[in-house]
Amino acid sequence: MIPPKTVQDILETTRIEEVVEDFVALRKRGINLIGLCPFHNEKTPSFNVNPTRNIFKCFGCGKGGDAVTFLIEHEHFTYPEALRWLARKYGIEIEEVVRTPEQIAEQQITESLYIVNDFALQHFQEQLFDTDEGKSVALSYFKKRGLREETIRSFGLGYAPDIRDLLLRRAKATGHSIDLLQQLGLCSQDQNRDFFRGRVMFAIHNLSGKVTAFAGRTMSTEKTVPKYINSPETAIYVKNKILYGAFQAKKAIRQKDECILVEGYMDVISLHQEGIENVVASSGTSLTEGQLQLIKRNTGQLKILYDGDPAGIKAALRGLDLALEQDLNVKIVLLPEGEDPDSYVQKIGREAFQEYIDREAKDFILFKTELLLADTKGDPVKRAGLIKDIVGSIALIPDPIKRSVYLRECSGALEVSETALVEECNKLITQGLRKRADREARKPGAASDTPGVATHDFPSHEPMWEPPVEDGKDFKTLNNNEQEREIVKILIRYGDQNLTEEVSVAYFILSDIDESIDAFENDLYRMIVSECNERLSKNEMINADYFLNHESKRIKDLALDLLFDRFEGDYSSNWEEKLNMPLQYQKTIALNFDLATRSALNHFKKHKIANMMSINAERIKNAELNGDIDGFTNYVKIQMKLKEAAGRIAKLTGTVVL
Ligand code: GTP
Ligand code: MN
Repeated sequence: MIPPKTVQDILETTRIEEVVEDFVALRKRGINLIGLCPFHNEKTPSFNVNPTRNIFKCFGCGKGGDAVTFLIEHEHFTYPEALRWLARKYGIEIEEVVRTPEQIAEQQITESLYIVNDFALQHFQEQLFDTDEGKSVALSYFKKRGLREETIRSFGLGYAPDIRDLLLRRAKATGHSIDLLQQLGLCSQDQNRDFFRGRVMFAIHNLSGKVTAFAGRTMSTEKTVPKYINSPETAIYVKNKILYGAFQAKKAIRQKDECILVEGYMDVISLHQEGIENVVASSGTSLTEGQLQLIKRNTGQLKILYDGDPAGIKAALRGLDLALEQDLNVKIVLLPEGEDPDSYVQKIGREAFQEYIDREAKDFILFKTELLLADTKGDPVKRAGLIKDIVGSIALIPDPIKRSVYLRECSGALEVSETALVEECNKLITQGLRKRADREARKPGAASDTPGVATHDFPSHEPMWEPPVEDGKDFKTLNNNEQEREIVKILIRYGDQNLTEEVSVAYFILSDIDESIDAFENDLYRMIVSECNERLSKNEMINADYFLNHESKRIKDLALDLLFDRFEGDYSSNWEEKLNMPLQYQKTIALNFDLATRSALNHFKKHKIANMMSINAERIKNAELNGDIDGFTNYVKIQMKLKEAAGRIAKLTGTVVL
């Protein structure tokens, strides 16, 4: 660990422009420096470095931050790695905080595992390039398969001759630990035989380029021999977190903002050699959550190339729902029959290949819909199952806008009304939310002795007042619109969630105030509330994601603001302060938010009514002065109604109206 004092030293010494200039050519413009952004492709510079504030910002892609951020983004360092890099650059000595003996031992084991793997890689490479057998058997095999020598070297390919214990003997001769060799699965348990024999070798790298494991491919076409064998899982090789080729691909993935997924090692290498470098392989298994997160950290676009038969593809699609949950945009490309990415790119060349995959890429959901639809011909039961299946996938997409686009498109493809799909989808989402809430509630530490909610008054849905004049807009502004803000906040944060079995928060709020939306004094809040009202009537989702992606920048910013409130502290204590009203319970969020919703509404109404009463009182006075008997009677009646309403609200909020 780096001591905090040293971290501070490093950060204070670091000059952003000196760091960036190690990677990007900069020139002066005013007080800033500019250059071509290293994070996206551009021809005119929009990458700015501000030495005074010690930060960078690209106005093209939006990336920005300090020197540490730059190194993390650009070099894919971890935070400590970036600090160490800077310390070296500026000659700052890092006195490591003393670690426990266990930590030291663990670190040492990890490091020595990598050392042994490096040794093994070197051995396999020597066998490939520097021995007669290697050259004639293995190197020629790779070359026959179209690989150039530089590719073979950069991917760490090698050769393990068919000799019982060649690697073991070499390890002993060079003083490497045989126990570690065995831990890495490079030799048998009894430490008598090498694991990889008579195979061409593929090194598997982790993200920072260290060799974590190997795969060996047989060169025989014998069906009884497994085509590939792999290193077992070890402390440094956790299969479900590694994608083959990720180290070689990560830069291109970020630059192109797309990740191409193929099945085989050879596919990755072959495409990379042809200049399509943003490629990784799942190594024949379906994607794991860890692998998807790895992709997601670099891009939101995933393009999957399939070369299988329809049955195989169908099975593969099932695993892809996970990708939707990660909010990846997934596209599918089917290769022509009998071709895999490796064979096809070698056959038609890079450009034609790139064109092919761009042209043939189909959106995952629509692809799945069409593929499955072909199976259900005229079978209503199968069709119903299919609709559930597809909507189930759509419901996993976190972005509500994307969801609604899919629902629309699929309603066309499935010949089912959009409304029906929306309903089904909302049902699934609510179920999902409820399940998640249950899970949360069941977590240790969560309150389980929650008092029932049923004892609370459920405010009636009758309009809260009769507008005393034709047009409700001329009410003067009372000094604050805190309540309006709170209502908007609740809508944005929790609109989709359920208050009761049938009633969503948005429904509850909006049906209660829809007559008074025009009376919102703040125009931004009014816009949001009326948009929510519209969306509610169309059964569209009302939640944070939607507003965070809103086309209006003001609304987007406000949504961000309102969401950030959550960091101010506990939500319920926030409420107490804002509304000057102690909450009865400090229990689960769900409960508090139920209470909070109700009290926000009541306080909102209280404010509105008070406002209206004072305006109406003016009118009574004027009517009296002008001898307008009809007006006077009318306004007095209204005033009585308002007072009644105020009394009802007061009971709920615990305040007294005079
Ligand atoms: P080539 O046949 O040489 O073109 O290799 P490939 O990489 O294209 O392999 P293929 O398309 O047959 O299989 C895709 C991936 O599945 C491989 O890269 C391996 O990761 C994995 N795989 C294939 N066969 C086996 C096997 O027999 N055992 C294991 N463990 N994995 C395999
Ligand atoms: Mn292949």
